[in-house]
Amino acid sequence: MQRRAMLKGCAAAIAVPMFATGCDVLGGSAKAVDELAFDPGAFTMETKTVATFERDKKVTYQFYESAVYVAKPVDKAHQSLSVSVPVEIDGAGVDASKAPILLTTSVAGYRSSSVTSSEPDDGGDRTKNSDLALAAGYVVVASGVRGRDLVAPDGTYYGVAPAAIVDLKAAVRYLRHNSGRVPGDTDRIVATGVSAGGALSALLAVSGDSRMYDRYLAELGAADASDVVFAAAPYCPVTDLEHADMAYEWNWGANPLRSGELDAAASRELSTAFTDYQAALELQGRNGFGRLTAANYGNYLVRTYLEPAATAYLTRMPNAERSSYLAANPWITWSGDRAGFTWPGFLSHVGARRKGVPAFDAFDLSSPENNEFGAGTVKARHFTPFSLRRATGDPGAQLDTDLPEKISLMNPMFFLRQRNSGRAKHWRIRHGTRDTDTSLAIVGNLAASLENLGDEVDAAMYWDAGHGSNEDPEDFIAWIGKVTGYAG
Ligand code: DHB
Repeated sequence: MQRRAMLKGCAAAIAVPMFATGCDVLGGSAKAVDELAFDPGAFTMETKTVATFERDKKVTYQFYESAVYVAKPVDKAHQSLSVSVPVEIDGAGVDASKAPILLTTSVAGYRSSSVTSSEPDDGGDRTKNSDLALAAGYVVVASGVRGRDLVAPDGTYYGVAPAAIVDLKAAVRYLRHNSGRVPGDTDRIVATGVSAGGALSALLAVSGDSRMYDRYLAELGAADASDVVFAAAPYCPVTDLEHADMAYEWNWGANPLRSGELDAAASRELSTAFTDYQAALELQGRNGFGRLTAANYGNYLVRTYLEPAATAYLTRMPNAERSSYLAANPWITWSGDRAGFTWPGFLSHVGARRKGVPAFDAFDLSSPENNEFGAGTVKARHFTPFSLRRATGDPGAQLDTDLPEKISLMNPMFFLRQRNSGRAKHWRIRHGTRDTDTSLAIVGNLAASLENLGDEVDAAMYWDAGHGSNEDPEDFIAWIGKVTGYAG
């Protein structure tokens, strides 16, 4: 519908992509205007020194500070992206015209993010990955997106679900629409982010070319191009939100809060619900483990992620340090250069959990996720029947009718259960073992779902590391080169 309206009276525009095309009548003759054309000349030349594993590298790069990626933006400050293109590394010229594109989102807490210089929002580890990618000769695109904190003057929350993922998809479509104008290989886009940004990068990568977002993309005047990405590297993805409370209590239910009491009855009820959820996923564990269930998942995590993480950590340590770590942690056995322990031993080692009960759909609507599922002028809503019914005291209460679809549009597991064929087939997932922002099973299920579909998955955890950790950035950069087949 919208496509036709935009093309009306502009026959000359038919050959160019539709959503991106406006129509200008100048001197009586119709002229097609590509409102979403990337301007290859709109850069400044910048230089930075990047500390890499081997040495400091001096990188000279073209910096495109801010390109609006939709034809009908509702918020240009957030719906824009920056592009960095290396042209010289340590004095040697590089040609990044066919390099992989690292697409980063700096979303945290489902809040908005912006690439405009007035709102710097990039931080620590993310910057490290971007800088290393640049120093490796890759193109780096940082995309701003709307988020739950944005409120219009009339009180409308215009960045709540599914705005952030719609924006990321629009950014990918913009890049592909500009293939050949924007430097880099738009068929080798690697999406990455941390926490809520990790969740969004995973969602972007599993939902490639799903028609379910078309209405939202059309409203923004997104480019009429594919939004498939090639690979994804989510860090500690806080995802599968409508099942995250169950998974959290299954995982951290016996762990105390730093202060205050937990609602033990609610914790038990949620944990019990996880049993059915996990069974319904029908996932097979890695390395012939068999069907993943609530009963065996602790052992699965220990064998698949936790013991290897501890082993790698202890192996790196000098002998004396390792001996003292092991002496302080007698629940860990060390034999044949391998760490061994039980799931309960691990849980008590982690200690206090970060979040209360429920961890995500808070009874008092105070969580970031309650806000993420707000709508219109309503700041926050329940997104699970469990919390809605508990909070209202109405055992028959139903979620608002718009929510089931929006919840699916925000959940990578939904698209994995659909076996969406437009998903990325190359994955790298990282998570800290001390990260209690979500359940380790949420991350395990994301990885297992991808593995069960036959995708290439490099999923691992960092021992004793917390939320947002990134302990092997050089490996990430090498992984990009390997999966994209880019020689550099
Ligand atoms: C983030 C952390 C959370 O605990 C959460 O619930 C959502 C997002 C974050 O760091 O992005």
